[in-house]
Amino acid sequence: MSAQLRALAAEICYQVIDQGKSLSEALPKGQQKLPFAPDKALLQEICFGVMRQLPQLETVCQQLMDKPLIKQLRPLQFLIYVGIYQLKFLRIPDHAAISETVEAARLLKGQNLTKLINAVLRNVQRKPELFDFCQASSAVQFNHPGWLINELQQAYPEQWQTIFTANQQKAPLWLRVNQQQISPDAYLKALDEAGIAASQPFAYLPVAIKLEQACDITTLPGYAEGWFSVQDAAAQHAAFFLAPQASERVLDACSAPGGKTCHLLELAPALQLTALDRDATRLQRVTENLERLKLSARVVAADVLDTASWWQGELFDRILLDVPCSATGVIRRHPDIRWLRKKTDIAPLTVLQQQILQCAWQLLKPGGTLLYATCSVLPAENSEQLQQFLAQQSDASLLSLPELGVNSWQILPGEQDMDGFFYALLHKAA
Ligand SMILES: C[S@@+](CC[C@H](N)C(=O)[O-])C[C@H]1O[C@@H](n2cnc3c(N)ncnc32)[C@H](O)[C@@H]1O
Repeated sequence: MSAQLRALAAEICYQVIDQGKSLSEALPKGQQKLPFAPDKALLQEICFGVMRQLPQLETVCQQLMDKPLIKQLRPLQFLIYVGIYQLKFLRIPDHAAISETVEAARLLKGQNLTKLINAVLRNVQRKPELFDFCQASSAVQFNHPGWLINELQQAYPEQWQTIFTANQQKAPLWLRVNQQQISPDAYLKALDEAGIAASQPFAYLPVAIKLEQACDITTLPGYAEGWFSVQDAAAQHAAFFLAPQASERVLDACSAPGGKTCHLLELAPALQLTALDRDATRLQRVTENLERLKLSARVVAADVLDTASWWQGELFDRILLDVPCSATGVIRRHPDIRWLRKKTDIAPLTVLQQQILQCAWQLLKPGGTLLYATCSVLPAENSEQLQQFLAQQSDASLLSLPELGVNSWQILPGEQDMDGFFYALLHKAA
């Protein structure tokens, strides 16, 4: 089992890095092959760890191998990273980490490489100096691609190192209490009675509850009853900022998988809410989440830009635009993003974001509000996007964000233990 787990980890890392699959796609398929929960958790821990440390693992290998393994042997190269990661970062006894990794090589048809793998891992065990990266490039020191380091150095001359450090941390487990089912205070009490330590860090956002320790959410009080959802506190600010009222007409234009859709309805269940997304598969999750939380909305699979195909002709009071973005704010939760996202992805994304913003603006009532949101830390997708929009749209102005009193908010990863996010609230002249 343990060798199988290592072989699965190597295959998953290979699929992500060499074949461009996301971890959220590849990892669950691997986990399905493991019957026991602790093994599933260890598989995740190893895959996340290799993504987080990849440049350093590669650098160590460069010092110990003549050349990296190529072509059909690539999964075995990732197996070596898996082995090194265990030796350096996990509390698995060295002899077990080495023998299971060598055994995994056989499962990956690498019988001829077992000696090499054994030798590399024993060298790692003996030579701690291999992990001295003081003289290495910043890409290796900070375990992120060079283009992203350059972007963030420019955008945040004072904070860029803190961002990369935060991206290497495990994200905390945040819950959003479904206030239609239970009050935040009553839920905190239920957690306390179950012996689960939790806090309520935002006085103005009492539904946001942070657990001291990660756990299996299905074991938390009220899981089956829909008392809570898992959602980072940064994302929980969206519904709070948009502040929907009673039976208003609201559009959530990029809604899947529905975290913010459900929160809007938890605040105001009588809303006439249209939850749109162009990805019908992801949209299925919106329907499931609505059902679990006993909420309802008009769920539509359509491209927001193709208004003729879905818009019924009535303007909206409020619009949430949680636009597709680089997701550079959520790297600590999705450590593969730093390798999957390329510098060349950013310009097309900003074009799409501007198109969505322009299109949605036409669907907003005069006097209405629109919340622009991304989980990005790149100014091109955030502040610069807003500047461009405001320069063209004379009936648009920025509103100050409730409780914060600022016109826009760039949350950096790790700030108040949150994901990186951007918010700006726009008002349309009446
Ligand atoms: C950041 S995610 C939304 C997350 C969601 N708001 C939540 O809180 O669960 C962006 C979504 O935009 C959708 N999307 C991208 N382009 C779109 C378009 N032109 N029209 C509608 N949806 C689009 C994607 O399929 C994706 O689900």
